Amino acid sequence: MTARRFGPTGPLRGALRPPPDKSVSHRAVILGAMSDGEVPVTRYLDAADTRATLAAVRTLGAEVSEAATSEGALDLRVLGVGLRGAGARWEESGETAIGVANAGTLLRILPGWLAGQERGAWMLDGDASIRRRPVDRVAAPLRAMGAEVSCRDGRLPPLRIAGRALRGAEHRLEVASAQVKSCLLLAGLLAEGGAAVIEPAPSRDHTERMLRAAGITVSSADLRTVAGVGGPPARRISVPQVERLELGPVDIPGDFSSAAFLLVAAMLVPGSEVRVDGVGLNPSRIGLLGILNRMEASIAVEEHAVPGPEPVGTVVARHSPLAGTRVHPEEVALAIDELPLVALAGCFAEGETVVSGAEELRRKESDRIAGVAEALRALGGEVEPTPDGFVVSGTDGLRGGGVRSHGDHRLAMLGAVAGLASRQGAAVEGFDSVAVSYPGFARDLASLAR
Ligand code: S3P
Repeated sequence: MTARRFGPTGPLRGALRPPPDKSVSHRAVILGAMSDGEVPVTRYLDAADTRATLAAVRTLGAEVSEAATSEGALDLRVLGVGLRGAGARWEESGETAIGVANAGTLLRILPGWLAGQERGAWMLDGDASIRRRPVDRVAAPLRAMGAEVSCRDGRLPPLRIAGRALRGAEHRLEVASAQVKSCLLLAGLLAEGGAAVIEPAPSRDHTERMLRAAGITVSSADLRTVAGVGGPPARRISVPQVERLELGPVDIPGDFSSAAFLLVAAMLVPGSEVRVDGVGLNPSRIGLLGILNRMEASIAVEEHAVPGPEPVGTVVARHSPLAGTRVHPEEVALAIDELPLVALAGCFAEGETVVSGAEELRRKESDRIAGVAEALRALGGEVEPTPDGFVVSGTDGLRGGGVRSHGDHRLAMLGAVAGLASRQGAAVEGFDSVAVSYPGFARDLASLAR
């Protein structure tokens, strides 16, 4: 496997627009395919994960036309098959294979729709990483609604779903997972009596926002537990059974999780100032900003608007000295994909940075607790993995060396940013995996380093 080197750089300066949001892109095309009528989706993410979703809905009978934009995104027109129309254009023989590639979000959300069809059977499978990702978290609650779902060893893909009439249920999730919540809400639209999901802490709410924009009544209530005990309230979200879905036009905001790599790079490289425009600022996605503020980073939202269901704005980050911080378990869901960057920032901070309550990181595209500790240690950082997070002792930055991405796009980008901010640079093995969410990442970094 070839490695790509990221040498120490001078100041990063400039403004750019991050790629479109991966989470919102998946949802726009899945809900578009579930709709009656044509749904225009502008600025869809053109990356491996979201290409897998396009292929999946086409297999299910949706017609999607695509046009490349000047910014490297896709403008789509999705002609859906309707809420109960998945696979209706095929004979009822055998089962249809759906490849999800590396896309955990597609793997977990799509079964909610398929489980409630009145015909058909589907087999969802993907790459080696996807085959290690647990799906019992969607299979078990779907079965409680009457679905016919089976998976390997009772918990891993391939995942087989046969369409059945569903009954409503209330689900209490053990971990805050937006993928699982979204799956069960989509199943609820098809189930007699709808569905309710109680999540232990609020997770990203893109699905709820998009369903509301499509005219569905999505109820959401914070459930107070014992006053003064524990973190944020659990949340109960419910949807009714509906006849049809009619999603209007969707414009995808920039991906905060992708932008975070550029912003943290600016924080770590002396003399830098980077502005990201048009980035999604959904409160359930930007937990990193609060964490970085506690680290005394110079990072601020400078413009903010709510043009549609998702808030969007500009974030500016500058280089500054950093202080260690403690990330609390209740912050984890709001910054789940950015926690590797917190560990990296911790290497440059004064004092200790501790992340706990983040065991879920072990179940991402790779075991991100092990992978982050391995990568940062290889570059000279002092990082101790714990069962549910890491403890980072700030030393004066990183020396440099070689890191492995383990085929995980976020570890590849972490290695690149660490290399730019290090004294000797980093060689990132498996850098190509950035194609999953941010194919133009190296080019964008280079444009800031000019
Ligand atoms: C996602 C939810 C999160 C996140 C993933 C995208 C989504 O996963 O880590 O990158 O789009 O719903 P979980 O639902 O497993 O927490």
